[in-house]
Amino acid sequence: MTAHAPGRTPRQYLMCEPTHYTVSYEINPWMDKTRHTDAELAVRQWRTLRDTYLDLGHTVETIDPLPGLPDMVYAANGATVVDGVVYSARFRYPERQPEGPAYQKWFADRGWVTHTAAQTNEGEGDLLVVGDLILAGTGFRTSRAAHAELQELVGRPVISLELVDPHYYHLDTALAVLSSDPAAPQVAYYPPAFSPGSRSVLQQLFPEAVVATEDDAAALGLNAVSDGEHVVVAPAATHLAGALRERGYTPVPVDTSELLKGGGGAKCCTLELRR
Ligand code: ARG
Repeated sequence: MTAHAPGRTPRQYLMCEPTHYTVSYEINPWMDKTRHTDAELAVRQWRTLRDTYLDLGHTVETIDPLPGLPDMVYAANGATVVDGVVYSARFRYPERQPEGPAYQKWFADRGWVTHTAAQTNEGEGDLLVVGDLILAGTGFRTSRAAHAELQELVGRPVISLELVDPHYYHLDTALAVLSSDPAAPQVAYYPPAFSPGSRSVLQQLFPEAVVATEDDAAALGLNAVSDGEHVVVAPAATHLAGALRERGYTPVPVDTSELLKGGGGAKCCTLELRR
């Protein structure tokens, strides 16, 4: 296996403190309303994640959490930001629908060009920029029509990928972007989360990809955030961390176990702002 020298660039992230964190409805198999949640622990873990980004030299902006929107902490779903253009989120389930306009307003108030989506999409939960391409998940939340809408909006190839396992209901739960360098794009993914056709597309696009194990996936290890060098990853994803090290990346374990009760990890809590 060839270790490549990944190029790290400082990133800008948007995050939302989980002040109102709870699991009060169930829209994915990880969520269980009857299980106790601890908002203070969620906030502590979230602050550690934020501080980790700051220590790595990244910038973190924040959006105010709104009462009654406990999933707002999963900022990745709030929008898609590519080449300075904001494609708004339009959530599938009514419980999350007010988050779309709330995030869009945050961007508009700060002078970003925003585009109101006509099609159902859950932001960068399903829409992942990898080099010049956008990988787009569908099957549970984001519609194929949204993939086409985004392609038309930003003029980049959008590759549709079909998700088949309800535990991996957003693309960012089954696939991590490790390098977005257009000269050497790289991903890690869990093949059983994808339809056979989508698996062969991934194989063709990323023949050298890191293949995650079932245990990596079940720890939401693929819900990882890479700056091209450091990869913030769930500590339980030990095989994945080893595979990343072999490729020349530095895994940075951050425990987001409380946020896993809602079905999310580090990447779900992080929206990258691409100017
Ligand atoms: N409870 C949230 C939902 O099911 C979790 C979202 C996780 N976010 C993500 N980017 N995968 O919608």
